[in-house]
Amino acid sequence: MSYGEAIERTLFTSDEIRRAVERLAAAIGADFRGQPLLLLGVLKGALYVTADLARSLSLQKDGPSEIRIDYLAVSSYGNAARSSGEVRILRDTSENITGKNVVIVEDIVDNGHTIAYLAGLLRDRAPRSLRTCVLFDKPYHRQASVTLDYVGLTAPDAFVVGYGLDYQERYRNLPFLALLRSWVFSE
Ligand code: IMP
Repeated sequence: MSYGEAIERTLFTSDEIRRAVERLAAAIGADFRGQPLLLLGVLKGALYVTADLARSLSLQKDGPSEIRIDYLAVSSYGNAARSSGEVRILRDTSENITGKNVVIVEDIVDNGHTIAYLAGLLRDRAPRSLRTCVLFDKPYHRQASVTLDYVGLTAPDAFVVGYGLDYQERYRNLPFLALLRSWVFSE
């Protein structure tokens, strides 16, 4: 079965995503002009957005003085449709974030538990500043109270895949954001 047959429709093309990432980079770059910055991507979903954001930031003339990249990995939904609020760290950061300007980079925020948990955890390590950046926002079922400082695009109230987002570890590599056909979920 090819990926093409499983896709119901494209929600955001790779061009639209690229432009959204550039807008995020412009906003972040302006806020951290002349200062060092640590981009902290949340694996696996934020793999692409973190890398593209870092590249876009490095093209700015007047951006941060230095950009470091680190990742941490958390457990995601597994097969369930929604996260429970229980977040597990599978791999911690390799950088010590104390005293640094940190931007957490997430692929998507739905009920908000994951990013709220991470923000709490990282804040306890006393970074110089801590901000949140999310490429796709699903603001419909928010449960955790969390401030999203940089938001790329608003996704529909549906399960989406592509550009890092998976369904059972598949479809992450799609360069666009898509809806899957319903039969995929009953396979
Ligand atoms: P939250 O805790 O409900 O905000 O969910 C955040 C995490 O759930 C994200 O980092 C994703 O890993 C996953 N997630 C939420 N919505 C989707 C989706 O539509 N497709 C794929 N993964 C999703």
